[in-house]
Amino acid sequence: MKKTFFQVAVAALLTVAGTQANAQAGKPAPEPPAEIQALLQKHICLTCHKVNVRVVGPAYKDVAKKKYTDERIVQLIYKPEPANWPGYTAMIAMTNVPKEDAMKIAKWINSLGGSAAKGKAKAPAKKQV
Ligand code: HEC
Repeated sequence: MKKTFFQVAVAALLTVAGTQANAQAGKPAPEPPAEIQALLQKHICLTCHKVNVRVVGPAYKDVAKKKYTDERIVQLIYKPEPANWPGYTAMIAMTNVPKEDAMKIAKWINSLGGSAAKGKAKAPAKKQV
């Protein structure tokens, strides 16, 4: 009897340990691919944007929810339309980003749309005056 109980307990412990290891291994990395990360850094986008959380600008994941075309995102990088993001300050026009780089970033932003929809974007709080 005792032996059986011991075996069950060990099996249970092993199962728990295994589950934890899997949970850690299965986490998707929040970082963009190295090439994109480098572009975002070079063009200082990361000063104001993060993938999952609002900083000065909206999270890229939330931009993806707008379902823009890649071309439209490129256009918005060069000529921001602050009216699209009430409650945010206006983005500076990033006109010195080469078109090719802007397009790569745009494609990557749109790739965040489907899978990375964790946690809803909070509507900007209305200021009480
Ligand atoms: C000085 C801060 C700042 C920098 C630097 C910055 N952004 Fe923004 N971005 C914002 C803010 C604030 C908004 C929301 C208001 C707006 O669109 O003007 C925004 C909005 C956006 C949007 C959504 C546009 C829309 O109309 O929906 C995209 C896409 C974007 N940024 C991409 C970029 C990329 C790519 C870079 C780097 C090349 C970059 N941003 C650099 C602050 C910044």
